[in-house]
Amino acid sequence: MNLFTLLGSRFPVRVQVRGSRIWAALVIVFCSSLLVAQRGALPGDPLPGLTPVEFEEFRLGLDDFLEVETTEEGLGPAFNGTSCAVCHSVPAVGGTGAIAEVRAASRGPRGEFVALDPSGESLFHLFSVPSHSCQPVIPAAATIIARRVPIPLFGAGLVEAIPDETLLALEDPVDRNRDGISGRAAIVTDAATGERRVGRFGWKAQHATLLSFGADAYRNEMGITNDVFPQEMAVGISPDRMRICDRLPEPEDIRDPRTGRRGIDNFASFMKLLAPLGRGSVDDTVRVGEQVFAAIGCAACHTPAIETGPSGNPLFHHQMVPLFSDLLLHDVGTGDGIQQSAGAPEEIRTPALWGLRFRRPLQRRRADLLVRSWSGTPAACALAHLIECP
Ligand code: HEC
Ligand code: HEC
Repeated sequence: MNLFTLLGSRFPVRVQVRGSRIWAALVIVFCSSLLVAQRGALPGDPLPGLTPVEFEEFRLGLDDFLEVETTEEGLGPAFNGTSCAVCHSVPAVGGTGAIAEVRAASRGPRGEFVALDPSGESLFHLFSVPSHSCQPVIPAAATIIARRVPIPLFGAGLVEAIPDETLLALEDPVDRNRDGISGRAAIVTDAATGERRVGRFGWKAQHATLLSFGADAYRNEMGITNDVFPQEMAVGISPDRMRICDRLPEPEDIRDPRTGRRGIDNFASFMKLLAPLGRGSVDDTVRVGEQVFAAIGCAACHTPAIETGPSGNPLFHHQMVPLFSDLLLHDVGTGDGIQQSAGAPEEIRTPALWGLRFRRPLQRRRADLLVRSWSGTPAACALAHLIECP
């Protein structure tokens, strides 16, 4: 239990007058930093030591991350969830969740990846808004079905603050050091800035920044177009049909006149300032395990810690990030068959292992209830209790 739960509310209540709101935030930042100093951040807490301005950004971000969107706000036509938090909430808001998204493709004569859509897109949305005439349906030709569980976002701002050069220095694409392990950095074009960057977020390390990932998620998971991803996306749905299903002008994510911020700015702030999960208690058994982990080579990919670069913000300036990942793409024989961004069908980014004790479900390819024949049907819809069913 922390101060906010003691007060009966997890986060400061919105006070009408601006000045008192800032004071309330100040008092809470001060008290919470005292608590954090005593016992470490709790799941879902912001990084300790935020300025009042950062705390306000975190809170605005949390609000938007929790907000359940409607068709009036741009939800759909096709979507996987109605809020970010619907998939990112275990063990606290920002965590993982039980809804697995589905990607599908087929294999060519030499076993190579062949997209089912000329766009190269492989995401098949689980749901659509009424009248459901823009519901993507996985064609019978699909021979690859990949399910992906959500990745928790705790500590994501620290991961973002790791310099590209550090990851490039870790890569060893052709196993030059002959330790039997090859891994490569995912070179991606950042959708928000157009820069060539080292991807680090997502199962295929498909994004380098939280702004771009959040914008991609807003469009791909919820169907809300934005400045970074301004076009609706639904595999197999023609632009003409899309116009009938979705009458709102793009982009749907517009600046809030009160704050001047877009939804995608708020998501990025929330994720950036979300604290990593602390480590469980470390006893002798844990210490022995850690030695074995290093001795048998797990740490070769699950790099115990990586340092962030220089930053004007002390929260991110040369901090050690104990994430247990090199954030590189590897072929460990579990590839999901999907070609995406820089990630080849057989490659997966080493998942971070911090906070693993809270990960439910653990496997990326969980036997999911929403199987191919069900996706988008009334049964799947009712099962997910997400939206009015056809
Ligand atoms: C339908 C469930 C679902 C919804 C809704 C959803 N996500 Fe996710 N999230 C996922 C899945 C699944 C992944 C892994 C995707 C992949 O790599 O292909 C993921 C991964 C991420 C990552 C990468 C984290 C990392 O460290 O690699 C970020 C960032 C993220 N989501 C942010 C968001 C934001 C912001 C929203 C709301 C706009 C959102 N997500 C909505 C399921 C969801
Ligand atoms: C060659 C690099 C490499 C080595 C060495 C390695 N891993 Fe991994 N690990 C990966 C990759 C890549 C995945 C993702 C696999 C997938 O989801 O298909 C993974 C997944 C995992 C997961 C699941 C995490 C999650 O969030 O789903 C755990 C746990 C794990 N590894 C532990 C270990 C342990 C313990 C060892 C040593 C015995 C080890 N790994 C050695 C690269 C590696």
